[in-house]
Amino acid sequence: MGALLHPRQNAALSLLPSNFGSHPTLFLIMRDATKIIRSTLTRSVASEPLHSGPVFAAPYHAPGDPSDMPYTYARSHNPTWTELERAIGQMESGPDYRATALVFASGMAACTAVFGAVLRPGDVAVLPSNAYYAARVLAQEYFAKMGVVVRLAPTANNAQAELLEGAKLLWLESPSNPTMDVCDIALLSEAAHRAGALVAVDNTTPTPLGQLPLALGADFSVASDTKAMTGHSDLLLGHVATRDLELRAKIDQWRTLTGAVLGPMEAWLALRSIATLPLRLERSCENAQKIAEFLTTRDQVTSVLYPGLPNHPGHAIAAKQMRYFGPVLSFILRDKSAAETFLAKSKLLTEATSFGGVTSTAERRARWGGDAIAEGFIRMSAGCEAVEDLIEDMAQALDAIR
Ligand SMILES: Cc1ncc(COP(=O)(O)O)c(C=O)c1O
Repeated sequence: MGALLHPRQNAALSLLPSNFGSHPTLFLIMRDATKIIRSTLTRSVASEPLHSGPVFAAPYHAPGDPSDMPYTYARSHNPTWTELERAIGQMESGPDYRATALVFASGMAACTAVFGAVLRPGDVAVLPSNAYYAARVLAQEYFAKMGVVVRLAPTANNAQAELLEGAKLLWLESPSNPTMDVCDIALLSEAAHRAGALVAVDNTTPTPLGQLPLALGADFSVASDTKAMTGHSDLLLGHVATRDLELRAKIDQWRTLTGAVLGPMEAWLALRSIATLPLRLERSCENAQKIAEFLTTRDQVTSVLYPGLPNHPGHAIAAKQMRYFGPVLSFILRDKSAAETFLAKSKLLTEATSFGGVTSTAERRARWGGDAIAEGFIRMSAGCEAVEDLIEDMAQALDAIR
């Protein structure tokens, strides 16, 4: 249990820049793509590989007093996580602050860590009524039944601001999955802090490259990195980032005690994947924008929900707080049968849940239940294919709707 006693030491490890040659301060002035790609390299040591492999270990050699040892037992820390946490911490950092990140076995493990580390019986948590379904169920079915008071209000129009009195935690999700609603993170963070609440943002759809919640005033940036962050649809991962070392220590302790940890192989795959995030996100968001614009021209489509569209109700706020509008868009077709026909006729949209991969996917979201959405509601994730091919394919699939 040595690592529980020394969270600060491990935080310091994750704060170090990875490999910026002999100029570690270069990191402060480089552009995002350079920073992200360079942050996945290991330190420059002659004859060592550019990327170290995954470190497979449960216990580590730990003779004597363990207080100065960064690694003693792998449920607490692992060198491959440290590399990944450095890279994510750098991505979550802003021009005037340094963030530190902790990685988890999944996005839900990361969400649970914030709820668990912050909330106690009698505390009030304010969540979006349209938050990601599992986060809402976790709050209502488990934390509420253990004595936490859960208040819900929609993401749109900053409606959560009305419920902040006496709150301990404000949970935001912008854009929300799957309805693509947007709230003003800076405005709500300020209001929450005035009320004495901590603020956590589920930043899964944009990734920290698309939106920086900590720079907008949030205390925690939380994400499912299963999605666009890693982008290859082959691993589960989550993270919590914060700039506050005391909050980090609480989250770190939660992770060690609950054991919601990822294997070194996943951490290593994630490191490989995030080096291409700038390329993937630029392409998939550009594709999402063009597809959203195309869908607005089609009679079969009742409505298109994408914050990059100028007529989206949250567009002005999204444009202010996001660097990319994200790879996810939703649209509504007449009914269940129209949506099923569209998905069956499309040859390029892989029918699958989740989002943020290099492969374009889509699904009729109401098939799962749990969200207040129409039967013809489709959530789509734009991948990195040639957008002309995607649009041609979607056009013929829409034409097939009778
Ligand atoms: C917005 C959001 N948050 C959290 C999660 C949970 O992530 P994971 O599936 O990695 O546990 C998801 C998964 O779809 C999500 O969409």
